[in-house]
Amino acid sequence: MNVIGISGTPRKKGNSEILLRYALKPFENNGWNVKIFLLSELEIKPCNACDSCRETGTCVINDDMQGIYDAFRWCNAIIISSPVYFLNVSAQLLSLLDRHFAVDVEKPLEGRVGGAIAVGGGTTGGQTITLNAIYTWMLSCGIICVPGDLFGVKAVADKPGDILNQENQLKQAEILGFNILNATKLLQK
Ligand SMILES: Cc1cc2nc3c(=O)[nH]c(=O)nc-3n(C[C@H](O)[C@H](O)[C@H](O)COP(=O)(O)O)c2cc1C
Repeated sequence: MNVIGISGTPRKKGNSEILLRYALKPFENNGWNVKIFLLSELEIKPCNACDSCRETGTCVINDDMQGIYDAFRWCNAIIISSPVYFLNVSAQLLSLLDRHFAVDVEKPLEGRVGGAIAVGGGTTGGQTITLNAIYTWMLSCGIICVPGDLFGVKAVADKPGDILNQENQLKQAEILGFNILNATKLLQK
């Protein structure tokens, strides 16, 4: 069984990346193949709406998204994390989400199981909007959305690594991972 994690922060070792790694732990412990994609390292350009994918089913932009299309086809489960930027997902993550347009017809993620994590520096509600954006994208791709303890994982942290002092949030990320793992197993039966 295969799971992918997509970290939407442009910061290396950002808080949302750390929570994603905790959410992936249950999969590692159960012998799954785990692949993590860090948008702090990859280059994914925005969709330019050229529409050539409508005829070919492939994207003409030759960048790191090509590997992510392969991962979409390969995975049984997917977890996406994002920092909250102006009450929404990061621009880096939004580019990736939009680029799914090229494989809309193929629907490589249909029937896969997914969950989301959002980390904001404040408490003005951006985490909820960010989770909504990711879960809504997941639904539009045909992904079966799974919650953590309550909705996705919502955390408040600012400087990279701050989240490591929040034992409860690290646990919440692991619970999200467990729930996705268990839902995937149930669907296999
Ligand atoms: C461009 C930008 C916009 C931000 N907007 C918000 C916001 O609307 N709400 C919020 O709670 N935090 C906001 N923040 C703070 C980040 O969400 C916070 O630093 C978070 O830890 C980033 O996640 P990361 O550590 O994974 O990079 C913003 C930060 C940046 C750089």
